[in-house]
Amino acid sequence: MLQKVRKAVFPVGGLGTRFLPATKAMPKEMLPVVDKPLIQYAVDEARASGIEEFIFVTGRGKVLIEDHFDRSYELEQVLMERGKHSVLENLTNSLPSTGAVAYTRQQEPQGLGHAVWCAKRFVGNEPFAVILADDLILSDTPCLKQMMETREQKGGGNVIAAMEVAHEHTSRYGIISPGEDDGKTVEVTHLVEKPTPEEAPSNLAVIGRYVLEPEIFDLLENQSRGAGNEIQLTDALSKLLNNSPFYGLRFDGTRFDCGDKLGFLHANLAFALAREDIGKDFKEIVRDVSQSL
Ligand code: UTP
Repeated sequence: MLQKVRKAVFPVGGLGTRFLPATKAMPKEMLPVVDKPLIQYAVDEARASGIEEFIFVTGRGKVLIEDHFDRSYELEQVLMERGKHSVLENLTNSLPSTGAVAYTRQQEPQGLGHAVWCAKRFVGNEPFAVILADDLILSDTPCLKQMMETREQKGGGNVIAAMEVAHEHTSRYGIISPGEDDGKTVEVTHLVEKPTPEEAPSNLAVIGRYVLEPEIFDLLENQSRGAGNEIQLTDALSKLLNNSPFYGLRFDGTRFDCGDKLGFLHANLAFALAREDIGKDFKEIVRDVSQSL
């Protein structure tokens, strides 16, 4: 029987230099889109996809993320006294259950591949998911759930989230060399990290969601530094696809690059407009602002 994907890794050890000074003392994953930190969206997505264990690979700002996913008795007490029951309920319901969260520290930000490798002991020998919280996805069905369903349909293997990007932007992404393609799921035959438009084998980019077989850890362990002098996840994935089935899924949903200022602002706009409680009023504000431009 196909082994279930139960664990998700959240690499949150990057420096977030594109968001300084906001990220000087606070990890960028704590930046809020409307009223929820990016990392909370990522954990909610994982939970809604059936993930049971949550592994954070932190760097600096660890305390903030740990506190965010912990009970806050004083706050809960105050909310209770003030009769703010629905706020309190939302807060407590959003917490992963006790014992389901683990933290490990990437002592030096040596790259995403290194951050994933740091989770090796916590994941063990089973398939797992990786979610990059700064890739925020607005969708009806959680992106990770779509990917886990694809894995089940295929009878196992690795699945990465894929998205068509403008040809001139290929150098910002890992790019897929496509094999068999049914328009939704594509067989990945090769991966190239940040190719120029001339070198790019397609315009199908890898987005920050991965469902991986545990063999990736051995590949990461022995890997030398790649682009940007960092241990790149893409390099290890390129080796993994030689000995394990590998698919890219064109997921249903809109992705926002919240590691980038404009992407982050765009996400705030889209998520606020999609909200039942404030969407209508916010639309008026957006209309007023755009008329005054
Ligand atoms: P980015 O490439 O966005 O790097 O990382 P960054 O350092 O976070 O941000 P900038 O470019 O300086 O603004 C992509 C993802 O990989 C994680 C980041 O936290 C982010 O989720 N990451 C990156 C690590 O966990 N460790 C690393 O060493 C590098």
